[in-house]
Amino acid sequence: MNKIINFTRSREFSEQIHDLIPGGAHTYSKGDDQFPVNAPAAITHGKGAHVWDLDGNEFIDCSMGLTSVCIGHGYEPVAQAVSEAAFQGTNFQRPALIELDAARLFLETVESGDMVKFAKNGSTVTTAAVKLARAYTGKNRVAIAREHNFFSYDDWFIVTTPTDFGIPNDVRSMTATFSYNDYASVEALLSDDKHDIACLIMEPVKFDPPRDNFLHKVAALCKDRGVVFVLDEMISGFKWSLKGAQDYFGVKPDLATWGKGIANGFSACALTGRADIMELGGIRREGDDKLFLISTTHGAETIGLAAMIATIHEFKKYNMIESNWQRGADFKQKLEQAIQRHDLNDFLQPIGYACLLALVCRNPARIPDDAYRTLMMQEMIARGVLFQGLFYTTWSHQQAELDHMAAAFDQACAVYRAAIDIGSCAGLLVGRPAKPVFRKKI
Ligand SMILES: Cc1ncc(COP(=O)(O)O)c(C=O)c1O
Repeated sequence: MNKIINFTRSREFSEQIHDLIPGGAHTYSKGDDQFPVNAPAAITHGKGAHVWDLDGNEFIDCSMGLTSVCIGHGYEPVAQAVSEAAFQGTNFQRPALIELDAARLFLETVESGDMVKFAKNGSTVTTAAVKLARAYTGKNRVAIAREHNFFSYDDWFIVTTPTDFGIPNDVRSMTATFSYNDYASVEALLSDDKHDIACLIMEPVKFDPPRDNFLHKVAALCKDRGVVFVLDEMISGFKWSLKGAQDYFGVKPDLATWGKGIANGFSACALTGRADIMELGGIRREGDDKLFLISTTHGAETIGLAAMIATIHEFKKYNMIESNWQRGADFKQKLEQAIQRHDLNDFLQPIGYACLLALVCRNPARIPDDAYRTLMMQEMIARGVLFQGLFYTTWSHQQAELDHMAAAFDQACAVYRAAIDIGSCAGLLVGRPAKPVFRKKI
């Protein structure tokens, strides 16, 4: 496996982009500070699980556009549907016919709720869920799972992170936190009306499985306390199951939010939920107060919905969920074997479910460490695997891709072992470590 060392054009790109775009990217987790110095700064194109950078380097993509590209880059049946929709017009002065078709198919597919509202971004739909819950309950505060690292770029969530600069202080008191799998922490918030909780929002699952019937107990408590139970399926939707992780674990939310990964990277997100809550955003109940739910110019742009429809058809046609799980499980086994081979069990730990794995990278003191994490990224990237901590096995990650990823990981483990043995990444890691996205200072 030849090592990739040429990032000349990438460096030129990085030098220019920050003059024009604050942060040098439109998602902070894609930024330069999230990667090793020796990494592609920009992607020119992708096909399947492969992407190419400005210097012509080819990589196998492990994260697939923040896991939004759920089948593969440039996947033809989806691209074709988008192209056809584009030629028929993307935005009209009345709803497009495709909005009804997309609503029917999506609700039928996810079997979560009676009504749906589409949008372009996940943040829009989670924020809309919060607004609906406030209107429905007459209460004000939001309870979020503190282990779940992102729900929205809007103030109600960002104020809970260290990156709270620019948010009015008053907003802080509007969001409360509990711990996933710690039922007592949920009870403490919901048991007393003085906490004024309108809704509880969490991902159904992240890397730790729900324990001790946590999801069902929380759902029951929310019902009992008149709190709207929201499951954010942005990541888990179309990964654990086409019907989301709520189906996998057999739990029903009042509202659910969906986004990345339902339209193969195209911009289509959704808020689904019970009709009696969702209808608050409607215009049929004359005389009632009008709730301004989601209303954006591009929310139902036809190409996003066409991509979503085509994506659902392809998932169903090839039973992609089952195949992703199976190949993910085989791959996880290969990771574990490599870790074992290099005697790194105390330092490298694949966590999560086969449909979406993460790798925890620890230092010699067995503490998760950004320098060691960056070293692993650097070594994977050098071997043609664009790795940022996640392994998302899609339909495009067939045996050849997975074999390449496993071989790269095995070789990267040898370097990691050396860093553990010498007790430092110095001399192995080129440049500074990657930084956490949410941090107080730049
Ligand atoms: C769980 C979860 N919820 C919501 C969002 C927000 O989605 P978007 O980036 O489309 O606004 C994200 C995005 O990372 C997410 O991971």
